[in-house]
Amino acid sequence: MKKDIAYLHAKKQERQPITVLTCYDYPTACWQDEAGIDIVFVGDSVGTNILGYKSETEVTMADMRHHLKAVRRGVTDAYLLVDMPYAADRDVKHAVANAKLFLADGADGVKLEGGIEKVPIVTALVEQGIETCAHIGHNPQIHGSKAATHGKTFTRAKRLIEAAAALADAGAKLIVLEKITEEISQIITETVDIPTIGIGAGRFCDGQVLVINDILGIGPLFKHAKRYQDYDYCTFEAILQYTNEVENGDFPTDDNVVHIAADKLARVQKWLKSER
Ligand code: KIV
Repeated sequence: MKKDIAYLHAKKQERQPITVLTCYDYPTACWQDEAGIDIVFVGDSVGTNILGYKSETEVTMADMRHHLKAVRRGVTDAYLLVDMPYAADRDVKHAVANAKLFLADGADGVKLEGGIEKVPIVTALVEQGIETCAHIGHNPQIHGSKAATHGKTFTRAKRLIEAAAALADAGAKLIVLEKITEEISQIITETVDIPTIGIGAGRFCDGQVLVINDILGIGPLFKHAKRYQDYDYCTFEAILQYTNEVENGDFPTDDNVVHIAADKLARVQKWLKSER
């Protein structure tokens, strides 16, 4: 069944957790869809996790579209969300034009980072019928990759609660809460009528999102994440074993090769002799 915004909103009403993972390639998209993930999310974290960039600010529209199209080919049922890269939503004109490119590439909705200052952009996208996900708290495009927890003081907590309400009022259909104290995330979840998707935002959000690399064990372990696999170790071991086997002559073996029939080989050898 194709999952849409109505399905995701119903999950909030029924208090069923919404599952979200970042995804950057076709095979992972197939696995996530098959596993029943609700939202497959092409995050701009593709830059630091896959492309070897130092910062999210290096990610371009071309990068995002390339990965979005690969993921689209692997997704059948999940809601497909894509991130606006740095500056792609710098004003209403660019935000609408870039969001339309993503929709043409097969995205179901777009996510953009920022607080209350993003209300005019969200309003413009919604007016164009573009399903929009807001993203408050830690915003890597604005604050950099090093994440501090937001919502620890009265002023900051109030600002977050007000931003969430304003973005929801502007028509955002979902909101990501990144690195926000659990108590303030819970207040936001209880006060907005759109699903909240937390990352490092505690247990009481309507859903959870993690970066696929972090659950697979690629790269460092973060407090907010959990490892379900040791991909770094398994992959390195496989590469090492392959290298050793090629160097030692243990790969390929007869099982990995295709032979020419003996009579045809004899003919080739006879022809070679006659040529010399
Ligand atoms: O790009 C990203 O990975 C994000 C996080 C919320 C998961 O925006």
